[in-house]
Amino acid sequence: MLLAVNCCNHLHERCGWILIMSGNLTAVKKRLEKLREQINLHNHRYYVLDDPLISDGEYDRLFRELLDLEEEFPQLVTPDSPSGRVGGKALAEFGQVNHRFPMLSLENSFSDSGIRDFEGRLKRYLPDAEFSYVAEPKLDGLAVEIIYEKGLLTLGSTRGDGKTGEDVTSHIRTIKTIPLGLHGNDVPDYLEVRGEVFLTIDGFQKLNERRADAEEPLFANPRNAAAGSLRQLDSKITAQRPLQFFPYGISDPSLLNSNNQLEALDFLGRLGFKINPLVQLCKDINEVVDYFHVLQKQRHDLDYEIDGMVVKVNLFSLQKRLGSKARSPRWALACKFPASQATTRLLDVEFNVGRTGAITPVAILAPVSLEGVTVSRATLHNEDEIKRKGLRLGDRVLVQRAGDVIPEVIQPIIDLRDGSEEEIWMPSVCPECGHELLRKPGEAILRCPNVDCPAQRLRSLIHFTSKAGMDIEGLGKKAMEQLFDAKLVSDIPDIYRLKKSDLLPLEGWADKSAANAIQAIFKSRETTLARFLGALGIRFIGEVTAALLENQFKTLDQLMRAGEDDFLDIEGIGGQSATSLCQYFADPAVQEMLRRLFKIGLHFTTSDFGRKQQPLAGKKFLFTGRLPGFSRNEAKARVRELGGQVASSLSKKVTHLVAGDKAGGKLKKARDMELIILNEEEFKRLIEGE
Ligand code: IVH
Repeated sequence: MLLAVNCCNHLHERCGWILIMSGNLTAVKKRLEKLREQINLHNHRYYVLDDPLISDGEYDRLFRELLDLEEEFPQLVTPDSPSGRVGGKALAEFGQVNHRFPMLSLENSFSDSGIRDFEGRLKRYLPDAEFSYVAEPKLDGLAVEIIYEKGLLTLGSTRGDGKTGEDVTSHIRTIKTIPLGLHGNDVPDYLEVRGEVFLTIDGFQKLNERRADAEEPLFANPRNAAAGSLRQLDSKITAQRPLQFFPYGISDPSLLNSNNQLEALDFLGRLGFKINPLVQLCKDINEVVDYFHVLQKQRHDLDYEIDGMVVKVNLFSLQKRLGSKARSPRWALACKFPASQATTRLLDVEFNVGRTGAITPVAILAPVSLEGVTVSRATLHNEDEIKRKGLRLGDRVLVQRAGDVIPEVIQPIIDLRDGSEEEIWMPSVCPECGHELLRKPGEAILRCPNVDCPAQRLRSLIHFTSKAGMDIEGLGKKAMEQLFDAKLVSDIPDIYRLKKSDLLPLEGWADKSAANAIQAIFKSRETTLARFLGALGIRFIGEVTAALLENQFKTLDQLMRAGEDDFLDIEGIGGQSATSLCQYFADPAVQEMLRRLFKIGLHFTTSDFGRKQQPLAGKKFLFTGRLPGFSRNEAKARVRELGGQVASSLSKKVTHLVAGDKAGGKLKKARDMELIILNEEEFKRLIEGE
């Protein structure tokens, strides 16, 4: 029997049995080796390189086979087995780990001059040296050290107090971007890798959603969530959290062949780590300062939080000569971004009236600096949000600004209340026109039903000329406010009567800008029926419904002769839209307005969209931020069904940005690019054909 060879050369009963097993074991061991190799490879392709080779299903099958075999043959489990990624036994307490080299912190700087002072100090210390630098995003997570012996991950620990941390080896193994075994032929015998464990914003939001469902307390931010996830005694819980890792250095560079930071990171990349792609070599301090501004701008485009940039002297030989002070190295500096959260006082609540009469509460705050911008107003969304947050007038509140997103009040600081705080009451009448407000059952929104409300008129005019409406260049929000205040425009036909001489006396207008605006107004008289219908801002009639209507009726005349049933016959048009259309066109004031518009020369050409029930043909959508009412995939699928395209990044081809909660920097860019920006509610209306 061939298998006997594995044990001994004699065949007796007991030994024979062992021999058969050991033969099996060899085969099993081989299979396990193969499985581990494959799983590690696919894991690396998927998590580190973002370039998977096999489907999730195939990966799961391999993983299942590995787990089953290891369960049957526990003696064959190895320290680098990917099965360790699902978490280990729950600990009674964390073991302690002494760091061979202290994990230092960094000196902080908050300005460009702070960065230049850093170079000044370096030059005073080493007058003869030439410095080049590596600039890296400063990740807002928590620092860990990971030890590899003979290429295998053997110990992972938190920073702790810098000298002693906690043993989180089984937790570290669950992080998919950390190799369990180092790759390549150049693996050092011993290596201590340091870096930051963090959660992506998406991962954080999903985690909080799950916690909200389970009625567990929510994490305040991704950093706390990452720290909370790593410090679980039960690493099986850690395994369910989508933690990520970027290395930022090694504790003892003399163990590597690399002679500088950039090469060392490159080497770590070859060993199997995912390296932050925003790491940048800067040949002098001017480039460092420039890159600080680049990163600050990009900050909100990233799907993880960074709170600054770390600049490091690139050459290890110079780092060594510079050495360290008690708590921080002389060769590195943390360049912090201005804070995006702060506390301030909620002084008052104002109520804004939107285009459709929706009343939005706005917090009036004691001015506070966020990301270098003074903020004194923040959105409170609606009455239910105020209640949910439990805000009171006079509260000290935590406010947050992320890029160009409207600042938000996150929560009151209840411990700082002194009893003088007062309840916030929603108004019963419109603050602009005094009409009684209505809140329909089941709706979160309070509305002013008066169509003549000046605030609604102004907002409607702003919508009419906007990109989402008639797209009249030069007549943006500010210009429309100015024209409305100057009583030059109080309804849509007024826009078409504007003359250059009306604009010139107004602040900010010059000969050229006025001429261009008048030209743009003139040109906009030729439009498509769908665009015009969308621009009118009829309730429940968005871009998609407008396209369906054009497709069905071809002319405004025919559309105006249609009854509710005719509208309901169109697939994609529901009861609310049909009623709204009938009400709108039955209004004598609307009919009069349309007559005036036709007299001025409004006329329609045919759209090149709106056919084949593909109202989003020719449109490209980009999604950013969280849409609580949709899964991303659902939203994307709907866009595609309606003939639209979905983009994965911001480009000139994108026409619509759908911005959910915490939308971040893409929103700012989209505004700069003057794209059509939709919030969740507007997107929903668009795809539901309302
Ligand atoms: S280098 C001795 N690089 O910032 C140098 N730190 O304030 C040690 N951090 O504890 C740190 N991103 O947790 C370095 N690219 C980066 C970093 C980074 C985030 C954290 C790290 C450290 C803290 C220091």
